Amino acid sequence: MNNFNQIDVTHCMDCLEGLRQMPSDFVDCCVTSPPYFGLRDYGVDGQIGLEESPSEYINRLAEVFMEVFRVLKPTGTLWLVIGDSYAGSMKGAAINPEDAKRYKQGTNKGTLFKNTSYKYRYDKIENCKNKDLIGIPWMLAFALREKGWYLRQDIIWEKLNPMPESVKDRCTKSHEYIFLMSKSPRYYFDNKAISEPSVYPPPLNKFNTTKAPRYGGRKYTMDGETFNRTKSGNAYNYTGTRNKRDVWRVSVSRERNNHFATFPEQLVTPCILAGCPKDGIVLDPFMGSGTTAMVAIKYQRHYVGFELNPKYIEIIKKKTQVTPYLFV
Ligand SMILES: C[S@@+](CC[C@H](N)C(=O)[O-])C[C@H]1O[C@@H](n2cnc3c(N)ncnc32)[C@H](O)[C@@H]1O
Repeated sequence: MNNFNQIDVTHCMDCLEGLRQMPSDFVDCCVTSPPYFGLRDYGVDGQIGLEESPSEYINRLAEVFMEVFRVLKPTGTLWLVIGDSYAGSMKGAAINPEDAKRYKQGTNKGTLFKNTSYKYRYDKIENCKNKDLIGIPWMLAFALREKGWYLRQDIIWEKLNPMPESVKDRCTKSHEYIFLMSKSPRYYFDNKAISEPSVYPPPLNKFNTTKAPRYGGRKYTMDGETFNRTKSGNAYNYTGTRNKRDVWRVSVSRERNNHFATFPEQLVTPCILAGCPKDGIVLDPFMGSGTTAMVAIKYQRHYVGFELNPKYIEIIKKKTQVTPYLFV
């Protein structure tokens, strides 16, 4: 019997079913990467990602994320990592990890999916010509915005080591989106926790100090201390840091764990640091190999998650050795 007040646990079940049983206003933030459209066969019945069409896929995900909306505290945020697909070729499609091994050994040549009917399923995509980029991330972002989420930012995950592609008529794809969404217009966001080093050192004045009280004929003060501004009125920043930018340059995970879509720890870390206070709860409805759980524990946050494939639950257990805790 599952207890949905329990935290520091990944329930092995369909996320929609599980989310529906969770209390409202329960978690501080949600960090997740759902299965991408038509790219992977995770080898379990009921999995999301192998729907007949993009709109069916978006509708299914929207249903999941509206339950996430309900279980999120009013101050909560969603950090949604999502990639795109091309119509027709379904380039990037992969078989499940066991098949991938056989593929490498040469005993399973030529099939993109374990079940080849999937490949034919994606030969024709609604409203797309073959070779069109489908636009899945924005389809999902707009669907969620329409249903009440605040779409706050499209963060670009620039992959430093993208999958090599043999294409000659476009650039190699090297990014995915991380959509930052919130339940309310005002929400928890610790920007200082993820600030980055500023590029330029603070300016010095003619006395070789950083205190230059007059610019543009006026004196500016803050907290009783004199400080200077640029001619345009912006305050100089002496902290040596700046607000984090919205392009994140992170390498694709090299973790070898029998799960082929592990997202990198460095990608999840800023989402959790900015989105969840210490001792808060991070949710991942598509836990996969447990990266969200592992990073949450590392930074003294709790986690709760769902994963349909029992094999991945074993990987998660190895990564997260903490005792489940009943939340009261
Ligand atoms: C892209 S992977 C997540 C990877 C994860 N971020 C990590 O770092 O390992 C998506 C996961 O969602 C799981 N999944 C697919 N459909 C699901 C469903 N309906 N409920 C729960 N999990 C599901 C798949 O088995 C897969 O492990």
